[in-house]
Amino acid sequence: MSLTNLKDGLNTGIDSLDYEHRKLVGVMEAICDSFDRADSAPEVSDLFGKLYAEASAHFALEESLMREKKYRLYDAHKADHEQLLDQIRNMMEACEDGKCTDCGMNLRACLEAWFAGHVTEADSGLRGLAGPSG
Ligand SMILES: [Fe+2]
Ligand SMILES: [Fe+2]
Repeated sequence: MSLTNLKDGLNTGIDSLDYEHRKLVGVMEAICDSFDRADSAPEVSDLFGKLYAEASAHFALEESLMREKKYRLYDAHKADHEQLLDQIRNMMEACEDGKCTDCGMNLRACLEAWFAGHVTEADSGLRGLAGPSG
């Protein structure tokens, strides 16, 4: 699955979350595009900073929604968010040479796996939380 496919393929059905997921994929695309150009190391590191900031804000939004709705898997979901943020820091170093020293995949595949795994396994459970019936 490409990053572009991820934008359309992962829908929780909650508009505000889906919008932010697409924005996060946009930052990931920018990281990969920048990485493919020569001498882009400072920009790549700035973009990883942006990904970290936007992902933090996004996770906070999901967590407030889950608290508001007394979501039963809140603790596990929040723990996963914390792990994802740690992984951004690791990914930046691990992918310095274009191939992740942790998973052996290239940067693009590594980013895709990072995001798609959480959205399909955890965020998909949020479907219906913001629905009209609450
Ligand atoms: Fe999410
Ligand atoms: Fe999440």
